[in-house]
Amino acid sequence: MSKKSFETLLTHAGSKPDEYHGAVNVPPHRMSTIVFRNYADFEKVPNVPYSYGRAGTPSSAAFEEAIAAIEGAYRSVSTCSGLSAIVTVLMAFTQAGDHVLMTDNCYGPSRKSCEEILRRFGVDVEYYPPMIGADIAKLFRPNTKLVFMEAPGSLTFEVQDIGAITAAAKKAGIKTAIDNSWATPLFFRPLEFGIDVSMMTATKYVSGHSDCMLGVVSTNEESWPQVKRTALMLGLCGGSEELYLGLRGLRTLNVRMLQHQKNALDIATWLSAQPQVKRVHHPALPSCPGHENWKKYYKGSSGTFGIILHQTNREKIAAMLDGMEIFNLGFSWGGFESLLFPEQPKPIRTAAAWEEEGFSLRLHIGLEDAEDIRADLAAGLARL
Ligand SMILES: Cc1ncc(COP(=O)(O)O)c(C=O)c1O
Repeated sequence: MSKKSFETLLTHAGSKPDEYHGAVNVPPHRMSTIVFRNYADFEKVPNVPYSYGRAGTPSSAAFEEAIAAIEGAYRSVSTCSGLSAIVTVLMAFTQAGDHVLMTDNCYGPSRKSCEEILRRFGVDVEYYPPMIGADIAKLFRPNTKLVFMEAPGSLTFEVQDIGAITAAAKKAGIKTAIDNSWATPLFFRPLEFGIDVSMMTATKYVSGHSDCMLGVVSTNEESWPQVKRTALMLGLCGGSEELYLGLRGLRTLNVRMLQHQKNALDIATWLSAQPQVKRVHHPALPSCPGHENWKKYYKGSSGTFGIILHQTNREKIAAMLDGMEIFNLGFSWGGFESLLFPEQPKPIRTAAAWEEEGFSLRLHIGLEDAEDIRADLAAGLARL
């Protein structure tokens, strides 16, 4: 496709009506076995588009083509979940004896993968304070191979100085990767900032309907062979239905994200003025650590942010959470529906202590009417 605006790419990238009888959606390809017409064709493997389901199908190719287009990436590879995309990145650039710098506010299972996989295979993982900026260079060792960022951080929402960290790593010849699931390329395009690898859980905003697990890694040209080979050798591949849903979700990412943004900003601003709320960690509000970095690097904000409540009494918190009518408790975000997640960050952090004394709550603001969402929260806060 010739150079098109982001919204047009979202709408059309990966679509191939000529190949599917005019259908605008690439149908799900349920393929494991792919047969060859003759021995000469068989001999061309792996230099053929499709040879075996795990190595790629027209469903994965269409999704990956669309993601690469919106990321401005050389190529993208899909995996069966966001976590498997993270593990692919962690394993692609490391071997025994290497050192990895991982942000202290990363998604919990990213940390567990470092502890339970990388360490077991002899990779030294060091967690760094998320707001370290250019001082990251002080942590570099001769064997540092990867700096992993996540912005804003899971649960705590600090926005890292992505530019300073990336510049320092580049100067030292160290690979950089970022979990960009919160912003999606609509609001931040990591490869344009010189980051080598961008990964997303497409389970969240990309698919957007809370009905599929999917991950994707996008890279520059230099990083591609290692990432693609690692995903292949780990045996990670998206399911045909999930890839279909991922691509279908992408078509409406723009409109959904703009509505999540609007609703979440409205609710976060209102929460900032509520007496039960100690602090609001929404990257687009000045009360969020790293707000200046958000202003510097991001084009918008999604629907997910954190708050700290003054109240910490378990019974009062339970009364608030159990009585919600619109919000449910859940381990996810990024779908059409509002969710609350009451995980506490304090015990998880090791490099930069989490000093907030109140009760942490992550909110995902869905596509419901903002007044209804506000009323549900107001009644919840009153129960505290
Ligand atoms: C920031 C972040 N990255 C990655 C993941 C993992 O994605 P998945 O659940 O698709 O494995 C999650 C899941 O909640 C997440 O919040």
